[in-house]
Amino acid sequence: MKLFRPLILFVAGLLVLHTAVAQKRTPVRPGAVRGVEYAIDSILAGLTLQEKIGQLVQYSGGWSTGPTGEQIINQEQRSLIRSGGTGSLLNVTGAAATRELQRIAVEESRARIPLIFGLDVIHGFKTTFPIPLAEAASWDPAAVELSARISATEAASAGIHWTFAPMVDIARDPRWGRIAEGSGEDTYLGSVMAAARVRGCQGTRLDDPMSLVACVKHYAAYGAAEGGRDYNTVDMSEQTLRDVYLPPFKAALDAGAGTFMASFNEINGVASSGSRFLMTKVLREEWKFDGFVVSDWGSIGELIPHGFAADPGQAAERAINAGVDMDMEARAYRDSLASLVKQKRVSVATIDESVRRVLRIKFRLGLFSDPYRGTSVERENRMLRHPSHIAAARTIARSSIVLLKNENSLLPLSLKAGAIAVIGPLAQNKRDPVGTWPGPTDTNNVVTVLEGIQEAAAGSLIMYARGCGIDDADTTGFATAVNVARKADVVVMVMGESNEMSGEACCRSFIGLPGNQLDLVKAVQATGTPIVLVLMNGRPLAISWEAANLPAIVESWHLGHETGHAIADVLFGTYAPTGRLPVTFPRVTGQVPLYYNHKNTGRPFNDTSHYTSRYLDIPSTPLYPFGYGLTYTTFGYSDLVIDAATLHPADSLRVRVTVRNTGTRDGDEVVQVYVRDDVGTLTRPVRELKAFKRVHLAAGASATVALAIPVSDLAYTGADMKRRVEPGTFTVFVGSNAAADLAAHCEVVAK
Ligand code: NOJ
Repeated sequence: MKLFRPLILFVAGLLVLHTAVAQKRTPVRPGAVRGVEYAIDSILAGLTLQEKIGQLVQYSGGWSTGPTGEQIINQEQRSLIRSGGTGSLLNVTGAAATRELQRIAVEESRARIPLIFGLDVIHGFKTTFPIPLAEAASWDPAAVELSARISATEAASAGIHWTFAPMVDIARDPRWGRIAEGSGEDTYLGSVMAAARVRGCQGTRLDDPMSLVACVKHYAAYGAAEGGRDYNTVDMSEQTLRDVYLPPFKAALDAGAGTFMASFNEINGVASSGSRFLMTKVLREEWKFDGFVVSDWGSIGELIPHGFAADPGQAAERAINAGVDMDMEARAYRDSLASLVKQKRVSVATIDESVRRVLRIKFRLGLFSDPYRGTSVERENRMLRHPSHIAAARTIARSSIVLLKNENSLLPLSLKAGAIAVIGPLAQNKRDPVGTWPGPTDTNNVVTVLEGIQEAAAGSLIMYARGCGIDDADTTGFATAVNVARKADVVVMVMGESNEMSGEACCRSFIGLPGNQLDLVKAVQATGTPIVLVLMNGRPLAISWEAANLPAIVESWHLGHETGHAIADVLFGTYAPTGRLPVTFPRVTGQVPLYYNHKNTGRPFNDTSHYTSRYLDIPSTPLYPFGYGLTYTTFGYSDLVIDAATLHPADSLRVRVTVRNTGTRDGDEVVQVYVRDDVGTLTRPVRELKAFKRVHLAAGASATVALAIPVSDLAYTGADMKRRVEPGTFTVFVGSNAAADLAAHCEVVAK
């Protein structure tokens, strides 16, 4: 039993100084890397095949909880860990439970290898931040990094080492419920946000006990599920995969991400969890990733219904040989790997390599130096919902809000607005604003919109009516809602989706307001009292009627605990909105997929010309384009200049533009630069976001804003699967959103 103790102590001493070495932000010392690898060699040499397989098996451990929510550890769990049957548990939380399970691993198992505890910490732990799609709408990587940092700090205090985040799937189809968990439709914005989330989560050192190791998911192209239906088939060209869907994964890796998660979908006939192309060729050989890949929940077993494996044995064989190192909950590795080795269908070298990758991450987390990472119930209690976390949740929530319409400056409302009617199924609702995948949150901590308004406008008369449900046909509340609207000077209607209408397995075939909510909006609108529509949702909504008939629309997504404060800050102008859409809003569901960086076609749409690529019954443009968002002032653009219009591949494209605050209030503008590669060997998108910068301008002030884009960022994947910048002309568009038409031209010439 005591076999490994001296070795582990020696290795711990050796490595305490070196565990952060492979983090990109810490200089790598080759000696330290070698130290880890020698240590792993020694551990591997002493492990039985069963113990090695145990390191590749992950179980869900949140079996049962006691009266105060504490996790109960049963005999089954104890003997599983004691026997070395698992290297990782997910869904166990709390310093007390994780310490006890870890104690069994490092004191009672023969190999004494620490467990790695994983959890979906997606947008907060005990302090709930906006859903990731909302955070992406901030177009503020520093805010997104802070949210990830705080979430990591709280989860790490509760004994977690590893989060299954960030989700970096590009989503061009808003019917897909998991669009809520990512950064939207754009590759560049998605890459910036992916890197920010990894930086926040992993901090500057992975062995900092307040850091978590990130798991970039879902590798790959999960967001391209046909018809926006979860788990569905993906069939796409390798160019599109490489140019649109893979870059956020690469950006996360470049920021130091330690682990990846395989996706549920198949791509071009190969299920991701069995894809050697993805897991080995691209990830390990091309990108030099040296961390480990975990399957998604049961996804190795799902190779069978995919028709990619006949039985669990073949599923395990295909997955491990493809390069999926850890089996989350399919039990395929547990049940089959030993006999696959015996049958020589899987080599011991393959198993050793996967175990090495898992142990490498455990070393980098410092688990061999302190398997408990300093957790204590006292520290956990001190860190969870720390006042500074709640304050940050409010600032991040308000920066995620996008103002879509504001006719005649209805907003901001005066704090002496007189009588305000607050109406709608999401107005006094503590459950749904936490959004999808809120983790172990307490929804009692949600500040509702009604509460936020009551607090901010204490001097006004505030009336409330629920009016209707989120997704039903009950109209019994309409009359009261219409009544309070009649008595009010302004109505704030809080409408949208429940938190269960987006996220995993929550796809919708119709993306308008659900149930009879639009009927209620129409009934209230008929009173003539002006309406501010506040939307809460996990995806873009098709709101053509609302956009045409209501004076003000505020997109608030699902904002987390500080919902009511953040929305009141915007409604009353304590904070002027700064958010911009990370995703296109279609006019109707039938228009999707609709995204700004599409190809032009041979017959680009022209709504006055019949034989063009369009629908007969709606305009071809979106309701609100990608990048769009208003604030309480306006901006004008002029004098777009490209510093040097002839560029070589090693240069940067330098753009300068004058931005003027043309309104009467100070405000923030997000200056966006889109580039079109005019003619390619392969056809190119009509434009692609390549840079953005936020500027704050006082009313009437102007500034010259300079942005630089490395010419290498204009590269794309050719028919030979090589990325290169092709010489030729490029058009540069600068402005407030993807429909910007201020343009200039440049040319890239060969060296
Ligand atoms: C399934 C989800 O697809 C994935 O995102 C998540 O991390 C795992 N379950 C674990 O909860």
